[in-house]
Amino acid sequence: MGRTPKTPRWLEAARRRQAPVPEGERAEWLARALGRAGVLPRLDAERAIQEGRVEVDGRVERDPFAPVRAASGVRLEGQPLSLTSEVLTVMFHKPAGLVVHGHDPEGLGTVFERLRAVLPEALRGYEWYAVGRLDRDTTGLLLFTNEERLVAHATSPVTHLAKRYVADVEGLPTEAALQRLREGVVLEDGPTRPAEARARGPQRVELVLTEGRHHQVKRMLAAVGHPVLALHREAVGTVSLDVPEGGWRRLTDAEVETGLGFR
Ligand code: URA
Repeated sequence: MGRTPKTPRWLEAARRRQAPVPEGERAEWLARALGRAGVLPRLDAERAIQEGRVEVDGRVERDPFAPVRAASGVRLEGQPLSLTSEVLTVMFHKPAGLVVHGHDPEGLGTVFERLRAVLPEALRGYEWYAVGRLDRDTTGLLLFTNEERLVAHATSPVTHLAKRYVADVEGLPTEAALQRLREGVVLEDGPTRPAEARARGPQRVELVLTEGRHHQVKRMLAAVGHPVLALHREAVGTVSLDVPEGGWRRLTDAEVETGLGFR
């Protein structure tokens, strides 16, 4: 028996409100708009709205899913806000141990908590979305953005954005094993796309993938007989990691456009 898909909360709320979404404009709902614009991260925004601290066009709005437009007059505790927001993207050097999830059942911490702890005050009000995932034990380049369309672009199976990984592996991979990785190996969810693969040491392999399936690097290397001992991501698109572990920096607009191919 298949699982019944859960109705997203915004859709439930829109049905409840029976409110038409303004035509010809990008539909946006209040809590999300506040997170995008750097006013309050989404959960904090939801709380502020439910507590009656947010007004839209002169009326207290208690529904986090109320539709808003760029021109709506929104106030937080009486202070007028601008809901227009630029696309912001940051690189973060993920240490091992943190999960790329909203919460960590094992208590070691999430990348979202760690990022927020190192960001300056001016960037803490944003809702930051991780651009793809890394396993808990994987280190290296993880991008965050306030723009969900960038996440969709970078993680879409049709974009083929390159991701460069370096893996320390068991055994001594031969040229034949590397060639199999280049040509594509057959995994349980189908054959992998052609990849770049080269040795960077006797037990170190560089892999450049243009897709991002679950545990893909580990599964590919295991499939050619070399289980991964440690995994690090060095680059996404042409954006290379250049901050120390636990550190971050903003990407320039040119890096986002040219390096990630997002406009
Ligand atoms: N492939 C993996 O196996 N793990 C990661 O974290 C990223 C890519």
